[in-house]
Amino acid sequence: VYVTTKTGEKYAMPSHASQQCYDDAVGFPFDQDDVIIASYPKSGTTWTLNIVRLICGMEIKPGSIIESEFPFLESSTRKRLDEHKSTHKPAFYHTHIPCDHFELNEKTKYIWVLRNPKDVCVSFYHHTKLFSNLYEYDHGTFDHYFKLFASGKTDYDSYFGHVKKWSEHANDKNVLLLLYEDMKVDTRSAIKQIANFLGKTYAARVSNPVTMETIFEKCSFREMSQTMDQFVSVQSQSTVIKDGKCPVIRRGVVGDWRSLMTREQAEIIDRMTTE
Ligand code: A3P
Repeated sequence: VYVTTKTGEKYAMPSHASQQCYDDAVGFPFDQDDVIIASYPKSGTTWTLNIVRLICGMEIKPGSIIESEFPFLESSTRKRLDEHKSTHKPAFYHTHIPCDHFELNEKTKYIWVLRNPKDVCVSFYHHTKLFSNLYEYDHGTFDHYFKLFASGKTDYDSYFGHVKKWSEHANDKNVLLLLYEDMKVDTRSAIKQIANFLGKTYAARVSNPVTMETIFEKCSFREMSQTMDQFVSVQSQSTVIKDGKCPVIRRGVVGDWRSLMTREQAEIIDRMTTE
């Protein structure tokens, strides 16, 4: 679906989003200390949400962690957001909408997850292939998908536009930037960084080595793949686990772009990244 932004531009979103939810999300009065986990799709959002959940000791409720503990801003009604805000302190949310669509609030915390665009492109391709209801793309080839990605015509528009806007805030005090590739190399450091950013209580919790190891184990790719239905989105659950595949916990490696991208395609993305 296309929504119209405040500046009158068309913005592409998945079919479970709506103009009403979009308007409610970008105008929502987030509270002090609320936490928004923000990313371009396929950047490690679900992994990060699970780490935050484990640090905070949140129970998994029936359904999924994504919807029950971290309302997805672009597809949540205002009533749902109000309820969540009034029953959770701090309240956590997640979104793929770029930061310039919101009025960033100095007191709200933002965790921005960033991943290299070549892996994002390939991951987004696999994700998109599992859905039959996505915009112009329907079970096409990677070459077709690549052209859409490189010209910013996927859901959530351009990866590069998203990253450019967020990078203007990368050094803000209330923004924690996490790189997927760093999280892979040293997951414990990422856990510690997130806990420190969330506040003293959480930092103290992960300073206990036993707690740290439990979180480390439970957020591992192996463990998350075994319990995947706890992590997927409720609205799209029936389509997300299609043919036993779950695109939010798929391969989880750095450099998987090599499995599909040609050298020429990789160079195009590298050039765009440099620009
Ligand atoms: P791949 O498709 O490359 O495997 P998002 O949650 O933003 O949609 O991101 C999904 C990507 O994160 C997928 O990448 C998925 O496999 C990867 N991922 C999910 N859980 C992970 C984990 N515990 N460790 C590493 N990568 C993980």
